[in-house]
Amino acid sequence: MTTKTLIIPAAGAGSRMQKEIPKPFIELGDCTILEQTIRRFLSLEGLQQVVVATSESFLGRGRDILDEVIPPQMQGLCITGGETRQESIYNALQKVSAIDLVMVHDAVRPFVKLQHIQNCCNAAEQYGGAVLGVPAKDTIKRIDDQQEIKETPSRQYLWQTQTPQVFQKDLLVWAYQKAMEDGFTGTDDSSLVERLNETVKMVEGDRSNFKITYPLDLELAELLIKESE
Ligand code: C5P
Repeated sequence: MTTKTLIIPAAGAGSRMQKEIPKPFIELGDCTILEQTIRRFLSLEGLQQVVVATSESFLGRGRDILDEVIPPQMQGLCITGGETRQESIYNALQKVSAIDLVMVHDAVRPFVKLQHIQNCCNAAEQYGGAVLGVPAKDTIKRIDDQQEIKETPSRQYLWQTQTPQVFQKDLLVWAYQKAMEDGFTGTDDSSLVERLNETVKMVEGDRSNFKITYPLDLELAELLIKESE
């Protein structure tokens, strides 16, 4: 059985949500979005540690949530995040205890399915890295600064990337180290590994694993939670 650490970046300000409180700490159903998200992983075989990165002022709240949700045989840690998602995860990586796999999952994707997490872990064991995603349903355009369309890449090869993004621990540590050294900032973890020319596999998930980003996403999340209760 492989040992696994789950890293949850939850240190974003959530400005697109137009709320005072950061998104992971908004209530959804009977608890916060962060707690809903962590619950999805708890029955995963081999999970031994959960590391959550929050802003300084939410460390206490993060720790309370971990105390509430993490079973005694598992370690729950809450640490201070950074200016960017990448820095938050870099800080969390310094605390990882698992030796095999590290999963990174956005705090604000509370509808991920256990089977999809498992599929992603299996692929990461085999290939080094694996991320969950879905085929792009819209035609995607590349534009310039004037918002003129420059290219229409074939949709056949375009996928929307979600999380979890799962990697063998040494590979992810190396990728983060190298990105920091080179001053490279990516918007996901996979891009840091891809630039080392290492293989990352795309694993098909589903569209219920959306990221709660805009007020409309929160409305949808509330409907889905009500339905499941
Ligand atoms: O901003 P975005 O939607 O890409 O954020 C994705 C995840 O990264 C969220 O869970 C957010 O809380 C987290 N994040 C972070 N540290 C930052 C910025 C974002 O942990 N500085």
